Amino acid sequence: MHGAYILGIESSCDETAAAVVRSGEQLISNVVASQIATHQPYGGVVPELASREHLKAIVPVVRQALHEANRTYKSVDAIAVTRGPGLAGSLLVGISYAKALAFALEKPLIAVNHLEGHIHAVLLEERQKGNRELQFPVLALVVSGGHTHLYLAAEKENSWTYENIGHTRDDAAGEAFDKVAKLLGLGYPGGPVIDRLAPHGDANAVKFQPAQIKHRDRRGRADGRVVDADDPRPRYDFSYSGIKTAILRYVESHDMRSSIEDRRKRLAAIFKPKLEDYLSVCDRQTLDLVASFQRAIVQDLIGKTLAAAQEYNIATLFVTGGVAANQELRITFEQEAAKEGMPVYFPSRPLSTDNAAMIAAAAYPKFIANDFADMDFSAEAGLVLR
Ligand code: KG4
Ligand code: ZN
Repeated sequence: MHGAYILGIESSCDETAAAVVRSGEQLISNVVASQIATHQPYGGVVPELASREHLKAIVPVVRQALHEANRTYKSVDAIAVTRGPGLAGSLLVGISYAKALAFALEKPLIAVNHLEGHIHAVLLEERQKGNRELQFPVLALVVSGGHTHLYLAAEKENSWTYENIGHTRDDAAGEAFDKVAKLLGLGYPGGPVIDRLAPHGDANAVKFQPAQIKHRDRRGRADGRVVDADDPRPRYDFSYSGIKTAILRYVESHDMRSSIEDRRKRLAAIFKPKLEDYLSVCDRQTLDLVASFQRAIVQDLIGKTLAAAQEYNIATLFVTGGVAANQELRITFEQEAAKEGMPVYFPSRPLSTDNAAMIAAAAYPKFIANDFADMDFSAEAGLVLR
């Protein structure tokens, strides 16, 4: 079989991942070692522990990805690694290992932006399904633990460029899921737990004020549209710290503290709690709160993205990143976009959250363009996507 076999390595946050992808269009292997168990007792990612876990996992994870792909170190054509954004110490583990491999094997090394990776997760899977007729302009919503960003994505002669037309002013959507889950004693990470609990509550039970979720400033409208005098192109910004504060106030005004503490203790005593375990420690009030919170986030994400899509005459929407795994977000987005005749593509759930297949896929156009990294490049925690 012809094509370029790229080994991707990802270590930007709390997942050590390696994958082999052929020519940006065929997933050959995809291995992800999660650190959830390590960080769970702390209710969030502890950067020092994350780096240590990456150090332990990186060699076996890469070996496993090659083994599952039936490849040897020598038979890959290039090595791609996440340069940023992410935790500096964690990124460095993947980068150092990728550099060592590239040097020893005399293979080209490709540095990839993690956010570009999330966008290419969609492209990889669509190509794999045989869908090659992508209509531009493309608008990509990258919605994860660290980002809620809208990008116009364009391709010219194998080179992709991105223009940011909106981002969160404070917390990212995934961060809000994680903080609210922690606040309610539901553990870490919050997204997957809230996703599964929300259908058991009444999403209309708790109303959040628009000001708690909609970003407004002096030039902004309620739909998030912001017009800057220096830049005539409208922006669509998000804000999710207000809803987290609203939930904190709700918890306090409804005397939920002691039941939350009780829940936290009971869940901590269960190894890998299942849905029934979560349901057994959640009363109706908590389930309603969780469902209402998720509904508010989902509607805000969809409303602003579709408003931006209309403004920019978008032909195709991508929704990607960890929060794109959310069931209600996927279903509602598809329904709402269909009403406007707009195709919307998500990665499969395993490729929505962090993985290395997306890094190997995003590296392919750079491989074709001989856009290789120098051996002296370093991690960039705040790397911007352009
Ligand atoms: O993309 P990702 O794996 O890592 C980052 O780049 O941040 O995203 C992780 C985020 C976490 O905040 C997690 O709670 C959220 O994605 N997440 C979800 C779901 N699965 C993961 N949020 C809502 N629903 C989910 N099913
Ligand atoms: Zn990510």
